[in-house]
Amino acid sequence: MPEHNRFLEGPFAPVEEEITAFDLPVTGSLPVELSGRYLRNGPNPLGLDDPSYHWFLGAGMVHGVRLRNGKAEWYRNRWVRSKAVAAQHHEKWPGGPVHENTDFAANTHIISHGGRTLATVEAGPLPYELDDELGTIGPYDFGGTLPGGFAAHTKLDHRTGELHAIAYFWAWDHVQHVVVDAAGKVIRTTDIPVTDGPMMHDFALTGSYVVLLDLPVTFSLNAVTQGKELPYVWNSEHQARVGLLPRDGSSGVRWIDIEPCWVFHCLNAYDDNGKAVVDLCQYNDSFDVSTLWAAHGPVTLDRWIIDPAAGKVTQQRLDDRGQEFPRVDDRIISRPHRYGYSAVIGEVNQAITATGDFTDEAFTNAILRHDLARGTVEAHEFGRNATAGEAVFAPAAPDSAEDDGYVMAFVHNPDRGAADLVVLAAQDFTADPVARVHLPARIPLGFHGSWIPDH
Ligand SMILES: [Fe+2]
Repeated sequence: MPEHNRFLEGPFAPVEEEITAFDLPVTGSLPVELSGRYLRNGPNPLGLDDPSYHWFLGAGMVHGVRLRNGKAEWYRNRWVRSKAVAAQHHEKWPGGPVHENTDFAANTHIISHGGRTLATVEAGPLPYELDDELGTIGPYDFGGTLPGGFAAHTKLDHRTGELHAIAYFWAWDHVQHVVVDAAGKVIRTTDIPVTDGPMMHDFALTGSYVVLLDLPVTFSLNAVTQGKELPYVWNSEHQARVGLLPRDGSSGVRWIDIEPCWVFHCLNAYDDNGKAVVDLCQYNDSFDVSTLWAAHGPVTLDRWIIDPAAGKVTQQRLDDRGQEFPRVDDRIISRPHRYGYSAVIGEVNQAITATGDFTDEAFTNAILRHDLARGTVEAHEFGRNATAGEAVFAPAAPDSAEDDGYVMAFVHNPDRGAADLVVLAAQDFTADPVARVHLPARIPLGFHGSWIPDH
């Protein structure tokens, strides 16, 4: 075991209290059209004394900022009250359904669907529903319509209102495609046989297909007996493959073998003349997720063109700068996109490089805006120690064009030792932020979030 743990230090270090702050100071001017909540989830363990702590396994804490009428009305951070977290706070657990004894304070994403705010996590547990002020309502199984566990990442098709997910669980011999209707009821599940229990963190959605990533990170009983906190390991025996499942479940999966690699996140995907085009961040070599973090080679933004007729996947490099947390304008998910946003995070790049010998670039913190039609990228640089998290796009209006709006993220402000909610104008990306909301506390580097507009 390491004597220290980078995921308990520096920008990853957990916070120890829940805060409520009103009427937050703002530098610049918050656009009046931004009315809603920016919420972001991430792991925040309650104890700080476990040197084997794995970043993926801390109890979920949601950080939120409420914007209205050009003002930042509040900031709140709240742990998700799983049974264990409620007990540690000497509170009564709200109760509710539990899948296979896997109750967990969902720590990976937070979404709004069917009028509910849901904190999500993968690998078995159910989502937790939160109220508008981030209090825990309880675990949520879509009104009893979800047969198993759920997933961290979901894809909402804004045209149909359907929410798609891929659920996986170590004890299953399949993964499960779940379709939730706009009202929040599961309307269809499709079991897809797999071997070795692969981790499927994310997937992609086109107009026609669910794109499955069956990659060589799989469940390991051996890792369990060795006491590894996260029992998923790089498995060179597991054939890497990409699968196309018709969205309507009308036929089986068309699998195509690929070279071994790892992918946490897809930017977006779409149909193109019978092919599926998927943009994603690819780890170009083995990736051992079971250790504190160890990859080889860079993480690049790539395009995969999947041709089911030819049984072939063609890969193109879109950007070779180390980056993660790719996001698209959510309204365009499953349709052709022109723009994408991603984060360059110094601490993550150092962790991925894992050689201890870093160039200046490894300390860079920036948010990138990709124009994939022009093949250009703009970087909004925040500088050393100004850790930037995932960037989320907020449209200027419900019907505004793609990229007509704002890009927001929590960014550490080293001068104050606390986080700012930074709001950039997407179409004036390298200019000074239109607003910086000064929050009263640090926000640990976390995972994913959503802009949840009031209407
Ligand atoms: Fe993720």
